[in-house]
Amino acid sequence: MSKKAADYSAIPVGKLTPEEAQAELERLAGAIAQADEAYYQHDRPKISDAQYDALRQRNLLIERRFPKLKREDSPSDKVGAKLSTKFEKTKHAVAMLSLDNAFSDDDVADFEKRVRKFLGLGEDALAFTAEPKIDGLSLSLRYEDGILKSAATRGDGQTGENVTANALHVDDIPQVLKGAPAILEVRGEIYMSHEDFEALNARLEADAIADGKKPKLFANPRNAAAGSLRQLDAAITASRPLQFFAYTWGEVSEPLGDTQWDALQRLKKLGFQINPLTKRCDNVAEMLAHYAKIEEQRASLGYDIDGVVYKADRLDFQERLGFVSRAPRWAIAHKFPAEKATTILEKIDIQVGRTGKLTPVARLKPVTVGGVVVTNATLHNADEIERKDIREGDTVVIQRAGDVIPQVVEVLNNKRPITSEKFNFPNKCPVCKSHTVREKGEVDYRCAGGLVCPKQVVERLKHFVSRQAFDIEGFGETYAELLFEAGLIESPVDIFLLHKKRQELEKVLYEKREADAVERELKTGKKRKKILSEEERTYKNIDNLFAAIAVRREISLSRFINALGIRHIGESTARLFATTYETFEKFRAAAEEAKNHETNAYQEGYATSSRKSFFG
Ligand code: IVH
Repeated sequence: MSKKAADYSAIPVGKLTPEEAQAELERLAGAIAQADEAYYQHDRPKISDAQYDALRQRNLLIERRFPKLKREDSPSDKVGAKLSTKFEKTKHAVAMLSLDNAFSDDDVADFEKRVRKFLGLGEDALAFTAEPKIDGLSLSLRYEDGILKSAATRGDGQTGENVTANALHVDDIPQVLKGAPAILEVRGEIYMSHEDFEALNARLEADAIADGKKPKLFANPRNAAAGSLRQLDAAITASRPLQFFAYTWGEVSEPLGDTQWDALQRLKKLGFQINPLTKRCDNVAEMLAHYAKIEEQRASLGYDIDGVVYKADRLDFQERLGFVSRAPRWAIAHKFPAEKATTILEKIDIQVGRTGKLTPVARLKPVTVGGVVVTNATLHNADEIERKDIREGDTVVIQRAGDVIPQVVEVLNNKRPITSEKFNFPNKCPVCKSHTVREKGEVDYRCAGGLVCPKQVVERLKHFVSRQAFDIEGFGETYAELLFEAGLIESPVDIFLLHKKRQELEKVLYEKREADAVERELKTGKKRKKILSEEERTYKNIDNLFAAIAVRREISLSRFINALGIRHIGESTARLFATTYETFEKFRAAAEEAKNHETNAYQEGYATSSRKSFFG
């Protein structure tokens, strides 16, 4: 079994040796690719925008220090991610690129100086437009002779997904233009308002509950917008309220104006929505003042923005400035800092993961951060709690960086109750009471219970059926825990024998449905609507479940290896093993051999023969 790659992430860029830098570039390329895939292909980000920006920034700094080590597949040259196979592809006539980021006033001043120098302007006038950076997904609309011909997402920048049928259902997208250039590609951002996002999630939740399923809700308006536009069934897009701001263009058969400002006015006349907070600025001071004004209005805009975009106003300047790899030289995105709020940390809970990893989670007194109610924050690990001396009852500053899980940034010591006690990381698993261990060189504590720990078993079952493994639709969210607790499944093998227990299954699902309905009626005061009888619904659900299992009786070797849930062996290593060993027999033989050579090669829970095996 291969050793885990060394991790140099804590070493400052200035101190990296060339070997370490090379390893870091490799790690960063992998991490960025993974984040891109989660964000662009699955509309489910795994890290926050701020963490993502930090990965890209570090990658860029290392490349600047070691230009020769820059990888051929460097993330700096890439935009977006691989395309989903769901849609037809559309090649962009002009590439759809990304933007470089500025994080401080100095970065903005440097940007202005760079542009000035490149153009050889000296003290001459240099104007920029400043407008909100909309947190949605970019879309390119191609009009030929004033008729909307196609709509495509950005994709990898060169080729996007053809979502024309879906774009026809967005009210802000005109289907016919009067007086437009013969060829006109209008580009802008598809987004969803906060109000529509809340209403959509509420609707999805109600529908799922009525169907006896666990609701799958969107994490934020951006994901809701992306998920709604990228639907194979355009009728679904039609039922989702999407909006569109135009802010740039691709191919045009004649210029839209002499300046960015004029071109936007022209687009407005043609019938597009232009952001009303767009302003022409004559110098850096005006740009920063407009940034401050937009930031002030951010919470009350009703839609998500994550910064301000500055663009050189004169289009002849834009032309001369051109592009470097993935971004134009004539524009920059000035990002907002993460949003913060103060609240009380009521409790520290410990969650148990699939491999027994114990993750502390802060339960917070609900607080609104940038329009979103936050009740939990991640505490990462025991060291983080120790370092920040985080205690139950503390008043804490939390930060929400755009999406996913908020973080505790600081404890307000002067507000600490006198009765407060230091938090002791538990030495027993909160679920199975097995002792906890922290291996040398690791930051995490783990529950040593292995398959004795019910939480680990359930989490492994969920991993087994997850999208990247056996991909049994709906099983993880709806059935894994329920059927494990009911004693119907214990190991993955049992999933494939469930059809032999149809009667018990009916009973469990029927009882669950009844209990849920009673709870819902108590909570909402509303009687359930009965379209199908409860029995009919249950039978239908079971038929669907069996069908979902039946189609996954045969899967690829790489999915199977990933499904085993071996620590450090994720999707890409599983793929590598599958191409190397070709058959399960060969893979198993190699694993057995490795086990004989190095008894600790298998992680706890798999090789310990005294314990029951997860795979029956
Ligand atoms: S201009 C050549 N203006 O931000 C690229 N982009 O992080 C020109 N975005 O891909 C893009 N609001 O999806 C521009 N007002 C705005 C924007 C904006 C949001 C998005 C766009 C772009 C991404 C880069």
